[in-house]
Amino acid sequence: MSLSKTEFIIANTVVQSTALLPEIQLHLASEDMPIWQMDDAAREAAGVPLPYWAFAWAGGQALARYCLDRPGTVAGKHVLDIGAGSGLEAIAARMAGAAVVEAVDTDPFAILAAELNAKLNNVEIETSTEDLIGQPGGRFGNWDLIMIGDLFFEQPLAKHLEAWLRGLLPTGVEVLIGDPQRTFMPRQGLEKLITYAVPTTSALEDSDLRNASVWRMVE
Ligand SMILES: C[S@@+](CC[C@H](N)C(=O)[O-])C[C@H]1O[C@@H](n2cnc3c(N)ncnc32)[C@H](O)[C@@H]1O
Repeated sequence: MSLSKTEFIIANTVVQSTALLPEIQLHLASEDMPIWQMDDAAREAAGVPLPYWAFAWAGGQALARYCLDRPGTVAGKHVLDIGAGSGLEAIAARMAGAAVVEAVDTDPFAILAAELNAKLNNVEIETSTEDLIGQPGGRFGNWDLIMIGDLFFEQPLAKHLEAWLRGLLPTGVEVLIGDPQRTFMPRQGLEKLITYAVPTTSALEDSDLRNASVWRMVE
């Protein structure tokens, strides 16, 4: 019998918190769980894209920590989290008092994981698999704040994303990026706000600690 997407997420993860975000519970996969052992063929046979949603990436953790510690960053705002993955930044923003949070990810597994995780933490978030990069606004009007957690890992996507964000800046939207300086992160037009040492998994990051910063995009 094949598993539904939700059953697949639950079967391949354990509810846990990360050291940096003890307030947030997430369905996450440990390194020794089968989801990480699957090769591309097995993943394709199971109809599962690479499970980015099953890991709390260093950049997303930094951004979530920043929101929880500085609720004024998001309080009362309409927030968009692009590339939400597990939904950790979206959940943190809602916990910190954001009025509306849209968590968007083109992977339907990620959106289901984010919804499960929001429920675990008793917060409501709006979700969508729509590709909003390049769009002027969302279903709920214009955004006050766009959050990007660890999305600069691939060149074409990073270029497209940066061009879109830079185009939106003059409209007054604020852009916050959580990133451990991945290869394709913009190197100019960013103001560093804070850096966290984020415990991570050496199986995915080649290191058990990554420095991840929160950056504000500036014109
Ligand atoms: C490395 S993960 C980061 C997840 C989360 N923000 C975090 O920090 O843990 C990147 C996520 O971006 C999503 N993604 C890739 N291209 C996207 C696009 N065009 N629009 C929205 N999400 C996208 C992927 O599916 C993946 O879940």
